[in-house]
Amino acid sequence: MLPLVPALVLALGIVWIALRRRRNRLLPPGPPGKLLVGNLLDVPRKDEWLLYTEYARVYAGDIVCLRVLGQTLIILSAEDDIKELLAARGAIYSGRMRGTMVQQQLIGGNRVGEGVLVLPLGRPFRAIRRIFAAFLGPQAARRYADVQTQAVTECLRRLVDKQQDPHIPLKRMIGGIVLRLAYGYEVSSDDDHFVQLAEKSVVAFLSALQPGWVVDTFPALMNLPSWLPFAGFKRKAEKWHQDAERGLNVPWQWVKNRLASGVATPSFAADIIEDKEETAARTAMRDIYGAGMDTTLAASLWLILALALHPEVQLRAQREIDVVTLGERLPTLDDRGRLPYIDAIIKEVLRWHPTVNLATAVPHISTEDDTYRGYFIPKGSIVVPNVWSILHDPAKYPEPAMFRPERHLSHEGKCNPDPYNYVFGFGPRQCPGRNLADTTLYLLASAILATCNVSDAINGRNEILMPENVEYSSGIISRPTPFSCRITPRTEQTRALLYE
Ligand code: HEM
Repeated sequence: MLPLVPALVLALGIVWIALRRRRNRLLPPGPPGKLLVGNLLDVPRKDEWLLYTEYARVYAGDIVCLRVLGQTLIILSAEDDIKELLAARGAIYSGRMRGTMVQQQLIGGNRVGEGVLVLPLGRPFRAIRRIFAAFLGPQAARRYADVQTQAVTECLRRLVDKQQDPHIPLKRMIGGIVLRLAYGYEVSSDDDHFVQLAEKSVVAFLSALQPGWVVDTFPALMNLPSWLPFAGFKRKAEKWHQDAERGLNVPWQWVKNRLASGVATPSFAADIIEDKEETAARTAMRDIYGAGMDTTLAASLWLILALALHPEVQLRAQREIDVVTLGERLPTLDDRGRLPYIDAIIKEVLRWHPTVNLATAVPHISTEDDTYRGYFIPKGSIVVPNVWSILHDPAKYPEPAMFRPERHLSHEGKCNPDPYNYVFGFGPRQCPGRNLADTTLYLLASAILATCNVSDAINGRNEILMPENVEYSSGIISRPTPFSCRITPRTEQTRALLYE
C-alpha cells in the first residue's frame, strides 16, 4: 500500500490534471472574458436576443460561449444546432436550473407541487407531460372551440367602440379560457378570486426565479431562522410558498367539493381528480395558467397592435373572411382551411415579435459533458436557443422587420420556414399548450377581422404608433409596452354578430 501522503499528492495531481484538461478543451468562441468577472459585463440586461445575434456575427459562430462567475452560457443561433442539441440530444439538454430560492418557494419542505417548468426529466416530469398530452394534444384542442369563441366574443364586446388599452379584456379572456378548461370555473370579474390566486402563484415563481438571490449561492443560509433581520429572503420564500400552495390547492379543492355535491361542470380537473397520480394532476392544472397566460396574452397584444398598424392587412383578411361567411356569421375552426391569410397573419405575428425570443421560459441546463462540432460543452452549461435570430434572418425572411403575412402563403413561402417550428421551443420541453394557443389566436384574429376595424394605436405618451416606433418589454416574455387603440364594428350587421 502507498504511504498516505504520497498517495494523497498523487490523487490531487490526477484531479488537477483532469480539471486542467477539462478546462482546456475547446469551448465555442465568444467575447474575451475579463479577469475575475469573466463575461459578466457582456451579458445584456435588456433585449438579450439582439446582442446575442450580434455576437454570432462578430465571432463568426452560430455557437457562442460566455463564462459568467464559473457558469458557462452557450448561445445557439442556427436552426441545425438548436435542433441537434435541444431535440436530437434533448435527453442531456433539457435539465432545469433550480436555485434554492425557487425550490423553497415552490415546494417548501414537502416537494408537493414542484412544477413542470423546473422538474428535471424523469418520472414526475413525464407524468405531468402525459396529462398535458391528453388534454392539450392536437385532437383534444379542437374540442374547446366553444369555450374559446364565447370568451373571444365577450372580450370583443368589451373592446368595441372606445379608444382603450386591450390588455385587461384580453387578460380576462385568456384567464377565462384557461380556468374554465382546467377547473370548469367561470371567471366573474377582472379581479376574480381564482385569477388573483393564480396570478400570485405566478408572481411568486417568477420572483424566486430572478437571478441574484444570495441564498442561491450559499444554500445553507436557508437554515437561518426567518426572524433574523437579514433573513428577509427567507420570509419572502415562506410567503411565496404559501401563495404557491394556495394556487395549487384552492381551485383543486373547489372542484372536489363541486363533484361531491354533484354540481361540477366538465373540466380537465374533474376528469382526473381521482387519478392515482394526484400530485401530478394537481400540479399540471396549476401550471397551465402559469405557462399559458402571459405567453398567449403577449401574442394577442401583438396581434391587435399589428392589425392596428397595417390597415391593408385587415382589408385583405376581411375580404377573405367575407367570401367564406358572407358576413352572416363568425368564422369557425371548420373554416380554417379556407382562410389561409388569417393563418398567415398569426404566423407573422409570432415571427415579427416572438413572445419568447429565446424560446425558453426557464433556462435549459446540460446534464452531461458533451462534444459538438469540435467544441466542448461542459455539464451544467446554460443552453439558450436564440430563435429571434432565426426569425429575423434576412436569408430566411427577406426584410424581416416588416410585418408581411404574405410571406407565409405557399406561392411566396418557399424561403419562409413556418415560425411554428421555432416559437414553441424544442425537444422534450416543447410547449405542450401550442395547440390551445394556436386555436385561441385563430379564433381571436378571425372574429376581430370578421366584425371590426382596428385603428388609432397610440402609446402611453399619447404618440401615434407606427410600425417603426413600436416599443416592447424585455425579459422572458416580450410584449408591446402599454398602448391603446380603437376597435370599431365594420357595420351594424357585423356588430350584431358579437351578440348572437
Ligand atoms: C403564444 C402562446 C405561447 C407561446 C409562444 C409559448 C411558448 C413556449 C415556450 C417557448 C416554452 C419553453 C420551452 C422550453 O423551455 O424549452 C413553453 C413551455 C411551456 N408552455 Fe407554452 N407557449 C404558449 C402558450 C401556452 C399555453 C396556452 C399553455 C397551456 C395551456 C402553455 C404551456 C406551457 C408549459 C406547461 C410549458 C413548460 C414545458 C416544460 O418545461 O416541460 N403554453 N411555451
